Amino acid sequence: MTNPNRATFGSKLGVILASVGSAVGLGNIWRFPYETGQNGGAAFLLVYFICVLVLGLPVMLTEFFIGRHSRKNTAGAFDTIAPGSKWNLIGYNGVLVAFLILGFYSVVAGWTLEYIYQSVTGSLAGKTAEQFAEGFNLFNSGVFRPILWTFVFIGLTHFIIVSGVKSGIERSSKIMMPLLFLILVGLCIRSVTLPGASKGLLFLFRPDFSKITSSVVLSSMGQAFFSLSVGMGCLVTYASYFGKNTNLPKTALTVTLLDTLVAILAGVIIFPAVFSFGIRPSAGPELVFITLPNVFQHLPWGALLSFVFFVLLAIAALTSTISLHEVATAYVLEEHHFTRKRAAILVSLGVMALGTISSLSFGVLKNFTLFGLTFFNLLDYVTAKLMLPFGGMLTCILVGWRVDRKILKAELTNHGTLPFYFFNVYAFLLKYLAPVAIGLIFLNELGLFRWLAG
Ligand code: TRP
Repeated sequence: MTNPNRATFGSKLGVILASVGSAVGLGNIWRFPYETGQNGGAAFLLVYFICVLVLGLPVMLTEFFIGRHSRKNTAGAFDTIAPGSKWNLIGYNGVLVAFLILGFYSVVAGWTLEYIYQSVTGSLAGKTAEQFAEGFNLFNSGVFRPILWTFVFIGLTHFIIVSGVKSGIERSSKIMMPLLFLILVGLCIRSVTLPGASKGLLFLFRPDFSKITSSVVLSSMGQAFFSLSVGMGCLVTYASYFGKNTNLPKTALTVTLLDTLVAILAGVIIFPAVFSFGIRPSAGPELVFITLPNVFQHLPWGALLSFVFFVLLAIAALTSTISLHEVATAYVLEEHHFTRKRAAILVSLGVMALGTISSLSFGVLKNFTLFGLTFFNLLDYVTAKLMLPFGGMLTCILVGWRVDRKILKAELTNHGTLPFYFFNVYAFLLKYLAPVAIGLIFLNELGLFRWLAG
């Protein structure tokens, strides 16, 4: 079953940084602020924290278990955990979700490159808030430029994937992740010292409980899964490269805490700025792209700041697209016996096709909608709010109910050599709480309880 020649990460730090690299990305810095802004601020944040702790963290640990125990790509791993059953569909679904997420994520990642370019050429300077909004809309509704940047970004991801697990994924994460933290902390200090910053902080941290509706809860859950990279087996693939000595519970906790910290830092950077410059917090996907350049240009060294920020965003996005791309590439490579290079080419071409349609859905394809959502928004909604929580729920049920407790415990404690004090709490969350809670959130969104209440 285990293949001794399979790649592993070379060090403990490599394991943490690669996993944090996967988790920390546009989800934290682009998606988190605009979701928080659209869902009423602090109340959303509170529900989000609960979802991270009781749903996201247990699912992450379970994915680590599946990956390291099977040492296979996501689809192969579920086959190994539940041989001869239909549960392996969770793994295939994960591979599909990797494509769908990359299909819209790469577009936003491409936007970061355009902004790096603009900050270098000086074209971000001297604009008003409206001009920033207009400039952004003009750019992303175009045809050629946004698609070109999307392709460039997919190309960068492709290049790292082809370089392999150790020298590609691990080495790049080791350089990029620490840099990211440094830049974030610097920007945080700058933002909270803006005039009127306190309004933004109140929006982010003082909850108004009347704002919690079923769709706010669904959004928080979706954001928790999306931000932690869980629910589709992304971390199954990464954990299959973990060494025998990796402490799985500790790694899961570290990744969760760091991911949440980065989201909070991003909120602390963005909301004071939003309020200080009179921008609506509910602006949506363009929030980060119109708010921050606007802030930067009012500051000394503004051009440099925006350059640094968008480089940071691109780096964070890259360590995440790598992890998604690897899910699909490892699947094609191992299950269909392609070379790494060919597998990666196939995946990149598929993502380029989806990315093209997503990008065009801000312009010429704007009016092609399904359930009122453009192609871009549809991919985002279906993956983050539906497929990830659903995948997470099935993963919990599978491991909670079908896997022998002893096997689970042995893997999570490295065969009894490490303590895992919360094993029983974890097992309870896995078996009962997480599946029931996710199920109820879905039913609630479908209006079941409103219907029952008559
Ligand atoms: N978590 C990443 C972010 O916040 C995106 C991401 C990477 C992801 N891999 C994933 C999301 C797997 C869901 C599933 O930007």
